[in-house]
Formats: sequence, C-alpha cells, structure tokens
Amino acid sequence: DNPAVADSDEGGVRRRDFIEIAAVSFGGVGALSVLYPLISQMAPSKDVLAASSTEVDVSAIEPGQAIKAVFRKQPLFVRRLTEREIEEANAVDASTLRDPATLAEMTKEGHTDMLVTMGVCTHLGCVPLGAGEGEIKGEFGGYFCPCHGSHYDTAARIRKGPAPLNLEVPEYAFTSDTTITVG
Ligand code: FES
Repeated sequence: DNPAVADSDEGGVRRRDFIEIAAVSFGGVGALSVLYPLISQMAPSKDVLAASSTEVDVSAIEPGQAIKAVFRKQPLFVRRLTEREIEEANAVDASTLRDPATLAEMTKEGHTDMLVTMGVCTHLGCVPLGAGEGEIKGEFGGYFCPCHGSHYDTAARIRKGPAPLNLEVPEYAFTSDTTITVG
C-alpha cells in the first residue's frame, strides 16, 4: 500500500468525476439552449406581457388630430374630435347605420371628444388612413381604408364600403385627464 499511489488513484477518481459532472452540466446547458427558444415561443414572451396594456399620453393631441399608437402589436388610433366633428357625429341618426352606435357609445362619458379605436379595418384587417397622415381623410371625415375603400366617419363608424362593422373600441380607461390606459 503505497500512500502515494492511493492518493493518485483518488485524484484520478476525482478528475473523472469532475469530467463527468462537467460533461453532464455542459449537456444540460446545451439542452437548455436548444429548448429555451421552443419554451419561450410557447409561453407569452415578456414583450407581449408588457404590451398587455398600453398607456397613451393624449395631452398633445389637438382637436382634429389623430395619432397612432400600438396595442398588442396592432395599430391603435387615438383621435380628438373638433366641436364641429362632435356635432356632425351627433347629427347622424345612429339607427340608420350599418353598425348602429352613437358617438357617446363609441367614447367614454365626459370624454366624448376622445375617440380610441383599433386601427384595423373590420373588412380584411388593413390599416385605414386618417391617423397621422396629414389631410388624408375619408369621405365622412374619419378614416379611409385604401385596400377596398371602406369609409369610417369621425366617430369611426362604418359608413361606406365593404367593412361590416365600426372600428373596434378596445377596453380602456382614462387614468388621468391626459392619460388613457388601454387593455
Ligand atoms: Fe379595409 Fe377591405 S380591408 S376595405
């Protein structure tokens, strides 16, 4: 029994253990790096979770202007109506519309000048013009879808063209006088 040899054997065992542990660990990391993208695709990504609600500062939107934001990776239109646009929208008999809705029903109480809708045409999903494109507006003063010519009025109600429904109003609330939180 040469203590030097025993030490050496022991050392040999330790080295093998170490190599095996390292190999297993490396394999584990390898498997994780292959699996992670798959797992992360199945679970909602941080981006999507973070985007489950969107805050929009509406203080800079002048009457007659609309801006585009993004909600759940889709365009969101926020439009401040002028006094005249409010009058015009209220002058329409909502019961005669394809998708009947009053301006009050399309907006929030106390904020009928602020229209918040998805920027997705209800025909086949194109993005209508009228938010941030300067003077490009539809025949009814609201949004115009260039894909197949749907016209939405200033209250985002469908007035002409193939789209069956008004622009969708998402769930939202005024979290301050100048901020809306959508979602
Ligand atoms: Fe808008 Fe067809 S997608 S009119």
